[in-house]
Amino acid sequence: LTEETDIVRRMEAAGAAILETLAEHGCEAYLVGGCVRDRVMGRPLKDIDIATSALPEKVAGMFPRTIPTGLQHGTVTVVMDSIPFEVTTFRKESDYEQFRRPQRVEFVDDLTEDLRRRDFTINAMALDRFGSLVDPFGGVQDIEARLLRCVGDPKERFGEDALRMLRALRFAAAYGLRIDEPTWKALMDMRILLKHIAMERVRVELERMLEGHDPVRAVQLLAESGILDFTKEPLGLPALRWDAQLAQASQLLAQTSEPDLRWTIFFMLLPVEASAAGAAMDGLRFPRRRQERIQRIMAFQEWIRQISLYYEPDRLKAKARFQEMALRYSKAIAADWLRLPPESADASRLKHEAAAWLDDMSIDQVQELAVSGKDILEAENRRPGPWLGILLDRLLRDVVLGGVPNDKESLLRQARRYRDRLPSLDKE
Ligand code: CTP
Repeated sequence: LTEETDIVRRMEAAGAAILETLAEHGCEAYLVGGCVRDRVMGRPLKDIDIATSALPEKVAGMFPRTIPTGLQHGTVTVVMDSIPFEVTTFRKESDYEQFRRPQRVEFVDDLTEDLRRRDFTINAMALDRFGSLVDPFGGVQDIEARLLRCVGDPKERFGEDALRMLRALRFAAAYGLRIDEPTWKALMDMRILLKHIAMERVRVELERMLEGHDPVRAVQLLAESGILDFTKEPLGLPALRWDAQLAQASQLLAQTSEPDLRWTIFFMLLPVEASAAGAAMDGLRFPRRRQERIQRIMAFQEWIRQISLYYEPDRLKAKARFQEMALRYSKAIAADWLRLPPESADASRLKHEAAAWLDDMSIDQVQELAVSGKDILEAENRRPGPWLGILLDRLLRDVVLGGVPNDKESLLRQARRYRDRLPSLDKE
């Protein structure tokens, strides 16, 4: 924590130094955007953005370390105390192309013009170097009233950048804000414009909503807005309906902070099965590994439910089946499933038992066997083939489930028992 506050202190000092330098060159300069909002709300700073009347080339000339991040959009990154700051010339965005970010920007010399083009009142405040707040659109008042409201005409703001509709839901969920009626109405009228937004940008917003501070509220807002029906590529998910049952079920989300588990629960709430979740994650351009993990946890859960492991009267048999499945999916996935908040008392009881079953599993990979494929080939004096992998899997099961000791001698002896069946293993 102290390290974190230290970084924030350094960031604030460096930000102040940048404002100072700009002022010394006779330019206006302010902290703007999210950092001002977070400061007013008393929340921790994540990064600092600066707006200035100076043109980008001039800004670049004032500081020893700069990066020309987006000169045509007016942005120069100034590196101060090893921390990057985006310094952007006051601008009025003009040509919005197809409801996505602006093509061309027009620089202006007035801060209020710059703030007027921003999405929400809470994001349209500025702080000067003496700490006084510039708030022409009532951001502070809205924060006090816990209200999310577009600057000016909400239809214009959402029309300029359709991603702002998802941002609205994210800010409302993250900060516990009510969405102002005209802003909400514009969002509902303009949802269809989401089809202009790249799927990965949609994913990033959804991640921030579901993985953030209030995932239950995020699901509520997604359900009430129905906005997920309007993505550029259809997600193929059933529509969420916010009713008492969903409100109740979605509480599970709040019981874990692990992102992949949150997504697993989200898909189960819809509800969809692993394959449909996979298709949706494909559409959202999830990284392959995450997608696989989430799908496998879901499949594991589906399997548990299908065979009603909760109610199997023979607990030894239940244990064996669980361990067998943990071998198939890996102990890691079984452990992920264990950490998935239980949806019922039965599930909770099973997870309790299963934790011990998982602990009992000495190994879960053929690589952990006391014999290698090479040992077996030598002992059996056969050509390698698919039989070898199958045999190693059998041995692994025998060790975990059958009580065969994991030492070389026992395993080679056990392998010999399979000898007669080895040719047919090749055909399995
Ligand atoms: N902004 C906007 N419309 C967008 C994106 C950003 O008007 N579609 C403006 C807002 O004033 C916002 C600022 O640009 O505050 C910076 O945007 P960004 O860094 O994306 O978000 P933050 O508001 O800083 O918040 P967070 O970092 O939590 O996303």
